Amino acid sequence: MEWYLVLLLVVVFLVVLQKWWTGWFGYCDSQADMRGKTVIITGANTGIGKATALELARRHARVILACRSKVKAESARNDIIKASGNTDVIVKEVDMSRLASVRTFAEEICREEPRLDVLINNAGMAGPSKKCMTEDGLELTFATNHFSHFLLTNLLLDLLKKSSPSRIVNVSSMAHRWGKVDFDNLCAEKWYHEGRAYFDSKLMNILFTRELHKRLAGTGVTVNVLHPGTVRSELLRSAHWFVKMVFGLIMPPFLKTPYQGAQCSIYCAVSEEMSRVSGQYVCDCRIQDPSKQGMDDGTAKKLWDISERLTGLTL
Ligand SMILES: NC(=O)c1ccc[n+]([C@@H]2O[C@H](COP(=O)([O-])OP(=O)(O)OC[C@H]3O[C@@H](n4cnc5c(N)ncnc54)[C@H](OP(=O)(O)O)[C@@H]3O)[C@@H](O)[C@H]2O)c1
Repeated sequence: MEWYLVLLLVVVFLVVLQKWWTGWFGYCDSQADMRGKTVIITGANTGIGKATALELARRHARVILACRSKVKAESARNDIIKASGNTDVIVKEVDMSRLASVRTFAEEICREEPRLDVLINNAGMAGPSKKCMTEDGLELTFATNHFSHFLLTNLLLDLLKKSSPSRIVNVSSMAHRWGKVDFDNLCAEKWYHEGRAYFDSKLMNILFTRELHKRLAGTGVTVNVLHPGTVRSELLRSAHWFVKMVFGLIMPPFLKTPYQGAQCSIYCAVSEEMSRVSGQYVCDCRIQDPSKQGMDDGTAKKLWDISERLTGLTL
């Protein structure tokens, strides 16, 4: 074959791969308006969370940005108001690595907000290279990505039920496929690896969704979990330099923008198709199967029981 034909084929292949990887088919085409609805998004000051908040503000929701840095959140709020024209965008402080902060935040919401239509558990971090423990004696990645969201969701359940039909959207990752829940190492007592901490915590998001879905039967509250795609964001800020280099130099054409990465969260939060769907794993705005471990009811129930104890939900 002539060299230029080979080159053409390679270019076509790369373009198709790029389009597919960045979610050619993964757009939320619902035009649903969110007027009169209140949405909470954790980690909404940057990345996928901020893009999700902007879209929901554009759809006229009351949007609560649940963030740990007031300064960053106020700046995001200004950007969102400017871009959407919706001034009903509120900043609330919450540090998702501290259970006490989650409790204070949830108490404030229940006291001040008459309704909650959508809770988007988006805040997340990829583990630091060295093990960090929180003031609650939890490993930082598990605390931020799973335990705090577990606690927050449970503390807001009555408000969500009162506001039903309402939705909970958990942001996981396809990286859950490389995770495993090691019940003997839930607080990194035996060993710590930053990659595994992230993968395992994202598997916990899937298992949490599975068990919560069962417990929500008949309440009018749905819960789904999603993979947003591989997105250009600040997620890898504390990753190893080599990982940062790969994602900074080689991967960019294959990364979704935060707007593209937010599509799945928006789809789960607003679309008519998803209004009665619950307990599902969604990727590129389509329901898919999570990993085999993500469908293990026994592990999901056990994780729930231990999470209740470790977060102090039941003593
Ligand atoms: N990017 C991807 O390719 C990808 C792929 C699969 C899944 N995800 C998931 O998508 C979600 C959003 O990530 P992203 O990519 O948008 O990353 P990001 O740009 O780093 O945004 C993460 C958000 O979470 C917040 N956060 C982190 N720790 C927190 C804490 N202790 N308390 C409160 N907020 C905290 C961050 O706040 P600060 O700015 O204050 O740190 C930030 O607002 C995460 O759950 C992540 O696991 C991302």
